[in-house]
Amino acid sequence: MWAGRFTGALNKEADDFNSSLGFDKKMFRQDIAGSMAHAAMLGKQGILTGEEAEAIRAGLAGILADLETGALDFDTDCEDIHMFVEKVLTDRIGDLGKKLHTARSRNDQVALDLRMYLRDEVGKLTAELKALISAVLSQAEANRGVILPGYTHLQRAQPVTFAHHLLAYCMMFLRDIGRLSDAVRRMNVSPLGSCALAGTTYPTDRLYTAELLGFDGICENSIDAVSDRDFCVEILSALSLVMTHLSRFSEEVVLWSSWEFKFVELDDAFTTGSSIMPQKKNPDMAELVRGKTGRVYGDLIGTLTVLKGLPLAYNKDMQEDKEAIFDALETVSRCLSVFTPMIVTMKPLPENMAAAAKKGFINATDLADYLVGKGRPFRAAYKTVGGLVARCLSLGTVLEELPLSEYKAADPLFEEDLYREISLEACVSRRNSLGGCGPESYERQVAFVKEQLAATDKKSEAPGESF
Ligand code: ARG
Repeated sequence: MWAGRFTGALNKEADDFNSSLGFDKKMFRQDIAGSMAHAAMLGKQGILTGEEAEAIRAGLAGILADLETGALDFDTDCEDIHMFVEKVLTDRIGDLGKKLHTARSRNDQVALDLRMYLRDEVGKLTAELKALISAVLSQAEANRGVILPGYTHLQRAQPVTFAHHLLAYCMMFLRDIGRLSDAVRRMNVSPLGSCALAGTTYPTDRLYTAELLGFDGICENSIDAVSDRDFCVEILSALSLVMTHLSRFSEEVVLWSSWEFKFVELDDAFTTGSSIMPQKKNPDMAELVRGKTGRVYGDLIGTLTVLKGLPLAYNKDMQEDKEAIFDALETVSRCLSVFTPMIVTMKPLPENMAAAAKKGFINATDLADYLVGKGRPFRAAYKTVGGLVARCLSLGTVLEELPLSEYKAADPLFEEDLYREISLEACVSRRNSLGGCGPESYERQVAFVKEQLAATDKKSEAPGESF
């Protein structure tokens, strides 16, 4: 490829070290689509003849078809996917293939391919995240009335429904979809035609190729176009947050399926046994998802570190962007492929949740609110209830079973109706403040999640595929 300037061949180790074909071959479809658009533009602008452009297009279409069927193998002697496609084209259509690289560089080509590849992959991942949200929503719908303790500091705090708890995760994953689509929106401008770094003297039409390839516009500065990898960082950070959410959810699944909690039972298909302890049923999938979070964070930090000291414009360091982002995309996708069915098949155990909810004084706030309703200031009521909790602990009982005489001794405003007021069902169903765990708020949240999912359906129809 460098014939002319070089007399010697590249050292074998250096050649392997330099090559990116092993991983950037993933982008062959995007590379070929980009080349087809480029050739069409060269033909339209008279830089190539119409026949030349058409012959190149047909040659590229043949390469695409053969790569799809496996009739053509990736030639490991080529440095990267861009050189591979150009070499095969030239082998197949002769010297005309050498004209394809007119008014283009691998620097704008790789930036183009990566943007198109990520656009497609993020689209697929968004669909996977939506499937997860639907699965979590179905579990919520099936467990509307199931009460469990809500925790702060992992101490039993106030009663909530299992559905309300699950819906919190729907909100997180909806934001993840939003972040990914923001990143794609900013990324969806074409660098093609920026060439090595400075643009070109040929009468190219960048707007035309951008439109052919489904971009919303072009990168306005040629140096920025070939040196920008912000879009990788944005997507990696959105993926890191997806993993943060999956990891927190996994942690809860691990806790919930422990003997200490036993709030859920995971399906056999998503658990493993122990090689030595016959009683064990381990939540390996959730643990692995939690563990793989570190790996995706590593991809983000690695990419930021690669970029931080780079002078403008393109530097070979940037070849390191791909393995990191490919790994992150694949890791998140593989995590979702087990996490979603694990949630679908997870069996909640409402009796155990109810038993835990009955023991932790989680209705103490409601008891204080009861006294406030009778006219006591909140701080005074808080103190009285604190004393009653201590009294229960010394008697080995709970608030709902403490005799009325004990209550009256603490504050004469207590009446028989307090027992109804502090039942866990009453505590939950009264919390209808917007976003609270009560039934009215629940309906509103479900409507919100469904509406957001439908809105992402419409959005994802818009940008279209690369081809
Ligand atoms: N394989 C390279 C990469 O992934 C493509 C761009 C190479 N450009 C160059 N001037 N060496 O970044």
